[in-house]
Amino acid sequence: MKTLTDLRPDEVTALLEQQLAGQLSSKELEEMGIVLQVGDGIARIYGLTEVEAGEMIEFASGAKGIVLNLEEDNVGAVIMGSSSSVHEGDRVKRLHRTASILVSEKMLGRVINPLGEPLDGKGPIEGPFYESPYERKAPGVIFRRPVHQPLQTGIKAIDAMIPIGRGQRELIIGDRSTGKTAIALDTILNQRENYERGEPVYCIYVACGQKASTIAQTVATLEKYGAMPYTIVVAASASDPAPLVFLAPYAGAAIGEFFRDTGRHALIIYDDLSKQAAAYREVSLLLRRPPGREAYPGDIFYLHSRLLERAAKIIDDDAVARQMNNLPESFKPLVKGGGSLTALPIIETQAGDVAAYIPTNVISITDGQIYLEPNLFNAGVRPAINVGISVSRVGGAAQIKPMKRVAGRLKLELAQYRELEAFAKFGSDLDPATLRQIERGRRLVELLKQPQYQTVKVEHQVAVIFAGTRGLLDKLPVEKVRTFEEQYIRYLEAGHRPLLDKIRQGQLDEAMESTLEKAAKEVLAGLGVQV
Ligand SMILES: Nc1ncnc2c1ncn2[C@@H]1O[C@H](COP(=O)(O)OP(=O)(O)O)[C@@H](O)[C@H]1O
Ligand SMILES: [Mg+2]
Repeated sequence: MKTLTDLRPDEVTALLEQQLAGQLSSKELEEMGIVLQVGDGIARIYGLTEVEAGEMIEFASGAKGIVLNLEEDNVGAVIMGSSSSVHEGDRVKRLHRTASILVSEKMLGRVINPLGEPLDGKGPIEGPFYESPYERKAPGVIFRRPVHQPLQTGIKAIDAMIPIGRGQRELIIGDRSTGKTAIALDTILNQRENYERGEPVYCIYVACGQKASTIAQTVATLEKYGAMPYTIVVAASASDPAPLVFLAPYAGAAIGEFFRDTGRHALIIYDDLSKQAAAYREVSLLLRRPPGREAYPGDIFYLHSRLLERAAKIIDDDAVARQMNNLPESFKPLVKGGGSLTALPIIETQAGDVAAYIPTNVISITDGQIYLEPNLFNAGVRPAINVGISVSRVGGAAQIKPMKRVAGRLKLELAQYRELEAFAKFGSDLDPATLRQIERGRRLVELLKQPQYQTVKVEHQVAVIFAGTRGLLDKLPVEKVRTFEEQYIRYLEAGHRPLLDKIRQGQLDEAMESTLEKAAKEVLAGLGVQV
């Protein structure tokens, strides 16, 4: 038997057409088809002349598929799940609906595959279920509201200088093992407080094309830190068929939209879209789409742009929100305004090449980028964020006032430090002002270092950044900065909780600043430093 790759579809068609002549009328062929070829999770189908791209189809065995390719004499579809039950010659029928996933609130705490089936051995997922299409047009601009609420990551360097707003798309980009996943996980862990306070930001972690063992570790981490009750993990590992891997981010988006459009907040992590692109390339080559640059199909940009467009902050007005375009029938009655879907896509670069095809595509689609660098990582600057080139184009609007006030100074000081840093190597000949600037920069860099799984509350962030930019740490030995930070936070928690509450609520005036300063001096005195 010839295989998929050595027989041209038109040859197969001609062959089969003779054999099938009379089996199905041309009228029947509008709704039905016959499998010509099957392999690698892909089926090529004769018939289905009226089928639409993105439509769900059903094979004789009950297995479902999604139509991706409409050609003149055949239809290309990906088989969802195992393709072993689909055989050449099997009948196929149209289901007259766009491919979709059945979403349930009970998915929270669960690990599922892109078809919505549980992978965690904790039994079936309970309903009620809401059908949410994998592919859905993003909300139009009249249903959106500009980003205005912060999505706190709990990571000082990000919340202070590259702030993320709810509804934003912020790319995390860097080589392998630079801490990309770590940032995403910390951001999820940091939502625990919101969940416990009854203002949840539901998290969807899409593990896409990673090793199964890595995914298992991530799930274990989320469980260990109590993040699973508000998190859904959608997983398609490197050993799953390519169609499932490329579908996984779409499954996550469909779930996220359910929360977004029912007036809730959700955060979705795509870890990572480089691997989704590779899976899509594989599927496309199997479907014989013409390969373009780096062998990716021509619509690879569109694959990522229509995915990331779905991140949005929805207008607060319920009545307007109910008019939203392309709302799925299943949850129309539940629609409310005010929800959001924030997306953190991850892209893995090769040797820092951010100018490669897929990285530049995704950079151009997102509202900002967090660049991670191996040399910083290896120098012990963790998170290894290059704050000089990382940006958030919209998140600043979402920062609380006190943070804006202290962070503006931080950015400036760090930029000056980076400029002078190169000269520091030449040593002694620098004037005192320059030296002071360099010493301050060193301490600020130290202040922004943060171990994994130790997210920092926004009010604590404001307090410690204030101490750094006010110059209170200039005389503190660099290696004591961490100790200071810990003691300072403990000191403030013990004696100044009302002040911290005010900061959290968006207040910071001069009187409060002088209280912070006094507290810092007390702690510094304990460390043997007189300011
Ligand atoms: N802030 C950090 N402090 C200490 N170790 C970190 C930090 N961030 C990441 N790591 C460690 O670095 C390694 C690589 O991180 P990971 O997030 O898996 O990288 P990537 O997703 O970029 O491949 C992991 O072992 C992780 O625990
Ligand atoms: Mg990773």
